[in-house]
Amino acid sequence: MNKVEFSKKTLDKFKSVIAKYPEKGAALLPTLWLAQQEFSVLTPEVEEYVAGLVGVSPVRVQEVRSFYTMYTARPLGKYHLQLCTNITCSLLGAEELLEHLKKRLKVNCGETTSDKKFTLSAVECLGHCGTGPVIQINDDFHESLTRESLDKLLDSLK
Ligand code: FES
Repeated sequence: MNKVEFSKKTLDKFKSVIAKYPEKGAALLPTLWLAQQEFSVLTPEVEEYVAGLVGVSPVRVQEVRSFYTMYTARPLGKYHLQLCTNITCSLLGAEELLEHLKKRLKVNCGETTSDKKFTLSAVECLGHCGTGPVIQINDDFHESLTRESLDKLLDSLK
């Protein structure tokens, strides 16, 4: 594997990020985010690199990475479908939508379609409980979903 290193552009972003924190270790979350944008997947090598940048142990980086669903240690499809299945969204029909997605995409949670287009995840509250059910697709949120609106949404993704 090639040496893991931020590009000059990402390194500049990293420098401006750590400048906002009293100590480097506190910048772990945004640094992990920069790493994910740069490398797509947070492999053990990337985690070690991030650990060195912010001065914490690789184990600490792994703990933080595995706690937050926004970070990934495995390759994702072009579109990461994160359906909230927490209590409010479930009461509003999220479980049924999840079953529909599994059938339509022929995958289970945590899996990617064979064409690498979609990865399906069931996640905890996305903070839009008033307008559930909610799905996050990459960086965008889609609310008040129905089976029909979800199908339309998926059809629109190229
Ligand atoms: S319970 Fe789904 S967004 Fe909060």
